[in-house]
Amino acid sequence: MYKTHTCGELRSSHVGQHVTLAGWVNRRRDHGGVTFIDLRDRFGLVQVVASVEANPEAHKTLAPVRMEWVIQVEGVVRKRLAGMENPRLETGEIEVEVQNIKILNPARVTPFLISSEDDADEQTRLRYRYLDLRRERMKRNLTLRHRMVKFIRDYLDERGFLEVETPILFKTTPEGARDYLVPSRIHPGEFYALPQSPQQLKQLLMVAGVERYFQIARCFRDEDTRGDRQPEFTQLDLEMSFVTREDVMALAEDLFTRLVQEIVPEKRLFASPWPRFTYQQVMERYGKDNPDIRFGMELHDLTDLAAGCGFSVFENAVSAGGNVRAINARGLGDYSRKQIDELNEYVQKFKAKGLAYLAITSSGERRSSFARFLSEERLQQIIHRMDAQAGDLLLFVADQPAVVFESLGRLREMLGDRLQLRDQNVLAFCWVVDFPFVVWNEEEHRWDPSHHLFTAPMPEDLPLLDSDPGKARGQQYDMVLNGYEVGGGSIRIHDSALQEKVFGLIGLDLEVARQRFGHMLEAFTYGTPPHGGIAPGIDRMCMLLAGEPNIREVIAFPKNQNARDLMGDAPSPVEPEQLKELHIKLDL
Ligand code: AMO
Ligand code: AMP
Repeated sequence: MYKTHTCGELRSSHVGQHVTLAGWVNRRRDHGGVTFIDLRDRFGLVQVVASVEANPEAHKTLAPVRMEWVIQVEGVVRKRLAGMENPRLETGEIEVEVQNIKILNPARVTPFLISSEDDADEQTRLRYRYLDLRRERMKRNLTLRHRMVKFIRDYLDERGFLEVETPILFKTTPEGARDYLVPSRIHPGEFYALPQSPQQLKQLLMVAGVERYFQIARCFRDEDTRGDRQPEFTQLDLEMSFVTREDVMALAEDLFTRLVQEIVPEKRLFASPWPRFTYQQVMERYGKDNPDIRFGMELHDLTDLAAGCGFSVFENAVSAGGNVRAINARGLGDYSRKQIDELNEYVQKFKAKGLAYLAITSSGERRSSFARFLSEERLQQIIHRMDAQAGDLLLFVADQPAVVFESLGRLREMLGDRLQLRDQNVLAFCWVVDFPFVVWNEEEHRWDPSHHLFTAPMPEDLPLLDSDPGKARGQQYDMVLNGYEVGGGSIRIHDSALQEKVFGLIGLDLEVARQRFGHMLEAFTYGTPPHGGIAPGIDRMCMLLAGEPNIREVIAFPKNQNARDLMGDAPSPVEPEQLKELHIKLDL
């Protein structure tokens, strides 16, 4: 072994011991004839001292050594001189007096400082990810992620779950994104699809009688990358037999409640048990199906008061079947015209045509873009319904519901940030249930599954599949945390006749369905237990527990926003020979 101790473990109790350490030079300082090195390994930092007087040989060996060189140090632990202790360092009471130094590997000057967090843009960090990962923040995140996954494995193991690996080279498993395809050399013109999730395979494992399955599973989706989306990401994929929706939700809630208490005890759970909302409720109150419930500023429906109110923008929206809703941004009643215009521009990004406002200044004076059109009585009704007081700013959007919800929902969270209502130390989990089973696809004139193909409708809504599909609810549930969807799951269809009916409803030709999912339909005919499951996203969950702004920070080697790996430079062209073997001709 190159070391007897790690750089993080030496304490006063080691004083007098002879130790050997190895690691990277975090920093070096020279004071006359004395050189100080902060030696770093994954476990911590320790101060190493070499002086000309005590050991001229070692002092000389250190002369060329710079930051990030890898060295081995042999020496004796001693107490630091009184007043020289460093309370911010766990090893801050001691230092190691060098007796012998060996250079294991020199290092070029790194493109950014490892010992400081703030001087590198993300491009450079991703290009040199192996250096970025040496830094404290990334080390913390890697550790947190490891601990999360370990907790999950232990928890599920104790409860009889089996971890089963499922293939990466398989067939399309649609979750609403494009597939990544892999050409087959052996079968010219045929392709594997990388799984968007192990959905089909976990259901087949239920047919196989596994009963309780989980997997820390890699998923692949060719969709636009965002702060909370990567082309490849990881799910805790989980499936159970002989369960109802309540069983799966209870297990997932208990797992993540305990995980949070164990792994991030410094954070506070907003509410336990987790609040539960219907899809309808979260849309009406928060404007989105993955709401941040750490703060109020909820949406108010003013459609009834807007009809015939005298302001044409509101009236026209209502007569076109839309609605008028508003939020009360408390404390912003003194916003200037310019500040309100900025909010107006913000909602237009989400297709709102404008943002009407009614401000009540802190001295009680009213300013508004539309109040002059309304009777005093109508205004009072609005003010009353929104509980508006001096110092409040009421912000209105009139449009089709989808636009009203999205624009006000986004505005609410943006203002929540601005007013610092989203407490970083609070984790607000909630459940959203009773989603519509299918949603109308205007472009293709057909119903799309609102979750995925295999989700079961609510039993009592089965007749609606024929009469009014848009009103049927699915047996699905979303796990939401601080404004992000962190997991989704459902009770599945376990009956091939119902599965075929759903294929028909979403306009999937039965022949095509049999080609793609024939193995599922066939399997369901051999004795299928009722089953259901859930798949929390590990990356999103880890991002939120770490308090990071995007999931790239909790993935060791992520793709950038353009789905490119900047370090390995992938994707990249391949040799013509390889394409030939795969029977592929490029048409660029
Ligand atoms: P769903 O598609 O809702 O469900 O995905 C479940 C969870 O996976 C995470 N997630 C992502 N994380 C990072 N990057 C992405 N591109 C990405 N896409 C999804 C989210 C999401 O909540 N098979 C079903 C689950 C089931 O029904 O059991 C499924 O995959 O946190
Ligand atoms: P205009 O009649 O276009 O001058 O708009 C008057 C006010 O109504 C302005 O404050 C606009 O931002 C606002 N406004 C316009 N369209 C909408 C809309 N669809 N919803 C809410 N406010 C709107």
